[in-house]
Amino acid sequence: MWFQRFFKIMSHDMAIDLGTANTVVYVRGRGVVLNEPSVVAIETLNGIQRVKAVGEDAKVMMGKTPDAIEAIRPLRDGVIADIDVAEQMIKHFIQKVHGPRRFPRWPEIVICVPSGSTKVERRAIRDAASNAGASQVFLIEEPMAAAIGADMPVTEPIGSMVVDIGGGTTEVAVLSLRGLAYTTSVRTGGDKMDEAISSYVRRNHNLLIGEATAERIKKEVGVALMPADGKGQTIHIKGRDLVNGVPKEISINQGQLAEALSEPVGTIVEGVRIALENTAPELAADIVDQGIVLTGGGALLEGIDEVLRRETGLPVTVAEDPLTCVALGTGRALEEEVFRGVLSTG
Ligand SMILES: Nc1ncnc2c1ncn2[C@@H]1O[C@H](COP(=O)(O)OP(=O)(O)OP(=O)(O)O)[C@@H](O)[C@H]1O
Ligand SMILES: [Mg+2]
Repeated sequence: MWFQRFFKIMSHDMAIDLGTANTVVYVRGRGVVLNEPSVVAIETLNGIQRVKAVGEDAKVMMGKTPDAIEAIRPLRDGVIADIDVAEQMIKHFIQKVHGPRRFPRWPEIVICVPSGSTKVERRAIRDAASNAGASQVFLIEEPMAAAIGADMPVTEPIGSMVVDIGGGTTEVAVLSLRGLAYTTSVRTGGDKMDEAISSYVRRNHNLLIGEATAERIKKEVGVALMPADGKGQTIHIKGRDLVNGVPKEISINQGQLAEALSEPVGTIVEGVRIALENTAPELAADIVDQGIVLTGGGALLEGIDEVLRRETGLPVTVAEDPLTCVALGTGRALEEEVFRGVLSTG
């Protein structure tokens, strides 16, 4: 009926990718409408805590907050580290997208949860969405959402492999016929790359840098592969000298960054190798033709696709928009009837 369709469009049904680094919200019929860091700034005044800022506004405070304010990432390493703060963050984002209550029907919400979350945590996330006004809440596994978002043939009897390199974890999965035929998760992703850069400059240059600086260096000039001349581009970074405590500036080149990043990159390669070894032969044969698709922000690290290509000998491609791919797939699972089977209620 036309009015049912009208209500559906007006209802703000949502798909949420609750990532450890970023939360992305997709609205039925509109696509991605919000993409913000999964960060909450909490202020404690006279022993009472209150949310001071969420998302982008909270991330700029990271590492720069006075004593009374703490910028928290409630999800870390692919698990929920602070469930109360995670709940407040979800409610904030849902309300931001939903606006004041003026729609005829409460929204249906599909949430993609970190794979490491426990049953209790999943329930807490569902409750947070219900409390924020959802009429129904469904959950979806992250690798499935990533594969749907990357337009992989998940509903067909064809094996395909997706590698989602997020902030906290890298999920490696083999999919076929709307199901996960094999999945493994390594607790290495963008955060570990940032840490590897920080510890490299601390060890080799006696320089202390913050999380935000390390991430910025990684995004701007980080490389997974050693440059042909061993050096590549050089950049300057500022931080605090470990020995005399004063601010100082050093220069670092891409060869050094490749060296710093070799450990986390190696762990990701190892995860892919283990998944390939554990894949049933028929599905493995399909992967030889289909290749491996990379999603998640870590897929944007320069050269990571080439490293995987060399290490596995398989075709490797990066999804069109790795940072919103999971949200897009979660959104399609909400909108398209063929994917209904991949949603769960708990
Ligand atoms: N150009 C880039 N080069 C390298 N890394 C990048 C780039 N852009 C973003 N990233 C990294 O990608 C990570 C975030 O990716 P994404 O949003 O997919 O993670 P997430 O979904 O929040 O995490 P998870 O899936 O582990 O819960 C961050 O660590 C970020 O620094
Ligand atoms: Mg993710």
